[in-house]
Amino acid sequence: MAIRVWSDWGLSGGRSWLIACFYDNSTCNEASAMGAFESLIITSSYYVAFGGFADIYSGILRLGGKEIPVAIKILRGKMTRKDMARFYREAVIWGTLKHEGILPLYGVAPNVGPQKALGMISPWIDKGNLTYHLENHPQISLEGRISILIQVAAAVQYLHSLSIIHGDLTGNNILMKDDKNILLCDFGLSRIWMDNVPTLHTTSIGKCNYPWAAPEVIFNDNPNEPPFTKSSDVYSFGCVMVQVLTGHLPYPTKNVIYHHLTKSRHPPRPTNTEFISDELWEFMLWCWAGIPSDRPSMEEVSAFLTSHVHDF
Ligand SMILES: Nc1ncnc2c1ncn2[C@@H]1O[C@H](COP(=O)(O)OP(=O)(O)O)[C@@H](O)[C@H]1O
Ligand SMILES: [Mg+2]
Repeated sequence: MAIRVWSDWGLSGGRSWLIACFYDNSTCNEASAMGAFESLIITSSYYVAFGGFADIYSGILRLGGKEIPVAIKILRGKMTRKDMARFYREAVIWGTLKHEGILPLYGVAPNVGPQKALGMISPWIDKGNLTYHLENHPQISLEGRISILIQVAAAVQYLHSLSIIHGDLTGNNILMKDDKNILLCDFGLSRIWMDNVPTLHTTSIGKCNYPWAAPEVIFNDNPNEPPFTKSSDVYSFGCVMVQVLTGHLPYPTKNVIYHHLTKSRHPPRPTNTEFISDELWEFMLWCWAGIPSDRPSMEEVSAFLTSHVHDF
């Protein structure tokens, strides 16, 4: 299966769009037959990774004589008008982002994968996501863990500076560029923040990641109150802190999440790590403040982590 690039685009700009037209095997047998044409080839017959909403295929993008390994994100579902709107919202928000801690979007291509669906094309990141990385590298030092958190905070701070809410901060949506550096990904639940425009922020229960989502997102019963805010990102960041500092998900087992969320409204203090000092725990409790506006801003999170990096 191959796709011929239709419009001009380049990787260096970081904001360019790949608009491609589909050539199936009957009209264009092999990518090599396309000669000088740039092409996108899906190299996996099945998805190689998946999340709550999408399947990820691996592929090769031929561009200017180079072969670039790419990931192709295809939303699961029938591509109804609602799904299309979701696809475009994610692609448009993602496509505007340019930051060293954010996975770039190379472009979108139609008719890819077995479903012949629209795909979002990004560089292939070999090392997997942060959840997987932490589970497989229990030896990471406290300094290494704080460095990961500082990078995640910087990426979220960048989003917030553009009035964008990530909406789904979890270890699964943070990729490891290498052993030390991260790339934030998955803008499927991202929103542009606009004061007093609650309809843009409403979500239905079940469309969030429970171990990381803020209680006001999970138990959102007031349609006039936007549940996704910069503060709900900060709450999730506190849960990512638990994950990075312990190497495990924020709750010890699935069935205790509801209990904790309804009682204390945040994860329990982990007992299996020496990395969570009282000072760090106090800070995490601040990120989980019951009233969202009482939580620190992402600037404060970054400042706290960077100024204390050698104290922990
Ligand atoms: N560019 C990429 N390179 C390698 N793996 C990726 C890439 N993008 C996503 N993944 C993997 O696929 C998973 C799902 O991708 P994601 O964008 O989070 O989809 P969803 O919206 O379904 O959660 C991620 O957790 C990660 O493990
Ligand atoms: Mg995801």
